[in-house]
Amino acid sequence: MYAHRIRRADLLARVMPADAAARLFAPAMTVGMSGFTRAGDAKALPRALVERARTEPLCLTLITGASLGNDSDGLMANAGVIARRLPFQADAALRRKINSGEVLFIDQHLSETAEQLRSGALPPVDIAVIEAAAIRADGAIVPTMAVGNSASFVQQAKHVIVELNLSAPLALEGLHDIYLPRPRPERAPIQLTSPGERIGTTAIAIDPDRIVAIVVTDSPDSPSNVLPPDAETDAIARHVVTFLEGEVAAGRMGPQLLPLQAGIGTIANAVLHGLSQSPFRGLTMYSEVLQDSAIALLDSGHLAFASASSITLSAPMHEHFIHNIDRYRDRLVLRPQEISNHPEIVRRLGIIGMNTALEFDIYGNVNSTHVGGTHMMNGIGGSGDFARNGELAIFVSKSAAKDGAISSVVPMVAHVDHTEHDVDVLVTEWGLADLRGLAPRERAPLIIERCTHPDFRPALRDYYARALLRGGQTPHVLEEALAWHERYRVIGTMQA
Ligand code: COA
Repeated sequence: MYAHRIRRADLLARVMPADAAARLFAPAMTVGMSGFTRAGDAKALPRALVERARTEPLCLTLITGASLGNDSDGLMANAGVIARRLPFQADAALRRKINSGEVLFIDQHLSETAEQLRSGALPPVDIAVIEAAAIRADGAIVPTMAVGNSASFVQQAKHVIVELNLSAPLALEGLHDIYLPRPRPERAPIQLTSPGERIGTTAIAIDPDRIVAIVVTDSPDSPSNVLPPDAETDAIARHVVTFLEGEVAAGRMGPQLLPLQAGIGTIANAVLHGLSQSPFRGLTMYSEVLQDSAIALLDSGHLAFASASSITLSAPMHEHFIHNIDRYRDRLVLRPQEISNHPEIVRRLGIIGMNTALEFDIYGNVNSTHVGGTHMMNGIGGSGDFARNGELAIFVSKSAAKDGAISSVVPMVAHVDHTEHDVDVLVTEWGLADLRGLAPRERAPLIIERCTHPDFRPALRDYYARALLRGGQTPHVLEEALAWHERYRVIGTMQA
């Protein structure tokens, strides 16, 4: 019945219901699941594990590519399925468990999880659960809309469970490029010199004997939950486009720019969308996730090619993509996240990284993860992989949050994800600060005047003037540096 998708007769006997597959798990196991920014995640096993945990707490260490869809992270956290979680999440219920200390979260650069598994720094994966569009005659697993860490999990896991998703079009076959670096010290250079090159195989190789169960599902990925562009994100996008035009005019890059990376979320999606109003054509992306904006740019001809680790789309764009997949096949490739985010490749290609900050400070340090300095939002994701190693690290943010109660530009960030050394350009709806080649005392006035919301500008000017009286390479009034965050915590606004 599934012979066109399970192309080995001996594996057909391993098809079983999800609850039977869930019985293969034991408490405290380390589990690797497919799924990256809601794409390509296992749909049935998370729910079957939630059921199983009703009678026996599982307390698993759960490693994925990135965030899962289908509320799986929240359901598993609430049911006590997960005790430890890495490397990224974006689920409100799991976030609550993390911030209450009930689930331990290891917030990791997305390129590093596979390295730490390979080196043994992380516990070995007991069971991998991988969503597939098909299993080939040689047993190789054809992933769906994401590759993430799946190839690393399959390489390492004692047992592999395949979730065969009948809703995943077979036309996805051939889209992927699976390549894993060899262990150190035998590591060779990764021979990838442009976003469109292929260096691996189109499916994840595995000895079929290690596939212990196949669970059949039929539901699509959860749609992305990004909001449409608004006046502020449009303004941010215009500043970015004007800046990039300036880079071309100055001869620092050609009219096709350098390969682009755009982070997750509403703002990064809107910034990329803004390129549809730009003069640029023949652009390329070397990113980790492709959102609606990337597909729209492929359609409009602005984008010639896109490489990523996952494709996460809204429901209408998903429909459009699946129906027209043949139009995209030659212009897309999905890679393991270790490769999509690899520092060696990001540095070689000279990526223009565009990621979102929760807040940044007057010297250019960026906080992408910790609300109020203490509470996890989502995680650093791949932003550090691209910011540290790319040609340009652009961070965007609306200048204020929570109806103006929070300034996104603060005297000192309350948590640092990207230090002043890794940040090149900061952008809000008010303007853009190009920090390259500037000392801290040159950066501060620029960031205050260009990026800050007018409601907070006088207070930041005053803070900086008083900080200067104390001197230093990076002047601060230390006892006041986090007072804005404290004021918000106590009275619900940073406004004095
Ligand atoms: N303090 C507290 N909350 C803040 C804040 C701040 N300084 N700045 C923004 N927020 C809140 C917003 O109010 C919003 O809250 P809501 O969900 O209750 O409405 C939420 O953060 C998301 O902000 P939004 O403006 O909708 O931006 P976004 O959808 O573009 O997401 C990040 C922004 C930073 C959360 C998201 O980009 C992220 O997780 N980044 C880190 C990972 C990353 O960069 N990965 C890149 C490679 S994929």
